[in-house]
Amino acid sequence: MSGTTTPARPLALVTGASSGIGYQLALLFAINGYDLVATGRSDKIDSAAADLAQHGAEIIPVRADLAQADGVETVWRVVEETGRPLDAAVLNAGRSIGGAFLDTDLEDELSLIDLNVTSVVHLAKHVARHMAGNHRGRILITSSLSATLPTPYETVYGPSRAFTRMFALGLREELKEHGVSVTTLMPGATDSDFHARAGMNNTAFGPGMKKNSRKEVARQGFLAMMGGQAEVVGGDAATKGTALKNRFLPETLKAARHARSAKPRS
Ligand SMILES: NC(=O)c1ccc[n+]([C@@H]2O[C@H](COP(=O)([O-])OP(=O)(O)OC[C@H]3O[C@@H](n4cnc5c(N)ncnc54)[C@H](OP(=O)(O)O)[C@@H]3O)[C@@H](O)[C@H]2O)c1
Repeated sequence: MSGTTTPARPLALVTGASSGIGYQLALLFAINGYDLVATGRSDKIDSAAADLAQHGAEIIPVRADLAQADGVETVWRVVEETGRPLDAAVLNAGRSIGGAFLDTDLEDELSLIDLNVTSVVHLAKHVARHMAGNHRGRILITSSLSATLPTPYETVYGPSRAFTRMFALGLREELKEHGVSVTTLMPGATDSDFHARAGMNNTAFGPGMKKNSRKEVARQGFLAMMGGQAEVVGGDAATKGTALKNRFLPETLKAARHARSAKPRS
């Protein structure tokens, strides 16, 4: 047979690609020759997709609320409808809720668990079976430095990310023999809409705080995923040092420390 064929471009899925760390990860995929299924909850995903497409990638934007099982199924349906193998998946969409547990809204917190925990398991089920069937693929799951400590005044958030971390590490071990790698990204405080959306502007995590660059956090996550690493703490040397120290400090001490930073100022 004569003639040449153009190699198919790889396909990646990124959730929470409309802003923050997820947008920067999506950008890295686009720059590195991937096409993308890029998801967000709001219509911001459409303008993000238009920006990403300027890098020559085919971007399929999906607007879906991942706190709802239907939203997760919508995203997976779009991936399946491409008819293409999924080479990489970044399960990144997530949020926090700041404030005293006595005051915060239960429905809102249960919805946070639906997004940060349930949707990760739900989407990972589809992604893992698909990639294992192809005997190839890379998964990056966003957790947090908050997975290494109790997080008073974001009392539900930290445990949701601790779940994500241990889930990712367990899944990694299972999927090894199927040719699929799983990497955990644990960012420290990062410059995105995250803390403002969590209602934490009136805390030490507010606008005055020096935070890690979302671009750098995404770069570290992308490289760790491509290198098949188990996990990476996203951020500067101080952030990585904190993660190391957190392995040895008592949980009660870390809890008291976090409370001082996350407690709303009166
Ligand atoms: N920033 C930090 O300090 C920090 C630190 C550690 C870990 N993280 C983790 O990093 C991840 C990304 O956060 P970020 O800092 O990039 O925050 P961000 O700028 O607020 O971005 C959050 C992304 O998630 C999407 N999203 C939120 N709720 C959703 C829902 N119900 N359904 C579907 N998508 C939803 C948002 O979509 P819309 O914009 O359309 O709403 C957006 O694309 C999160 O999992 C977070 O836990 C962040």
